Amino acid sequence: MKVAIGSDHGGVALKAEIIAYLEANGYEYEDFGTNDTKSVDYPTYGLAVAEAIKDGKADRGILVCGTGIGIGISANKVPGIRCAMVSDAYSAQMTREHNDANMISLGGRTLGGGLAVTIVEKFLTTEFSGDARHQRRIDMITDIEKKYNK
Ligand code: RB5
Repeated sequence: MKVAIGSDHGGVALKAEIIAYLEANGYEYEDFGTNDTKSVDYPTYGLAVAEAIKDGKADRGILVCGTGIGIGISANKVPGIRCAMVSDAYSAQMTREHNDANMISLGGRTLGGGLAVTIVEKFLTTEFSGDARHQRRIDMITDIEKKYNK
């Protein structure tokens, strides 16, 4: 599995902790930046990682900004992206099992590194349930995208 990861300045420190986890666990990854604390605009990084997922260059995407909110909203504007803003391990597991989320967004100013890594581990190791009712709901999300992306 290949992971795409990106953050703004508010998420750069937590992104480094997540990358250390990815490296320690043998994940292939691409870091889309940013890589210092100089102020940048989170949509730039949300878009870059979302496009990597959409184009099949990576299998799962991880985003970090101050709260995880703005960067995740940005990613969700890209068709085919299901980015869940997650702050607990149960939600990370459920968004894989039920929503088949292909991205998560995390808050660099709201989460400790230990919790964030636990969330990432759940996100990367949990499979979609494949249950018909969950697939039907995901298909409905795709239909909403189609309705507004003509
Ligand atoms: C940047 O200061 C901050 O607004 C950003 O990291 C994020 O929290 C936005 O949702």
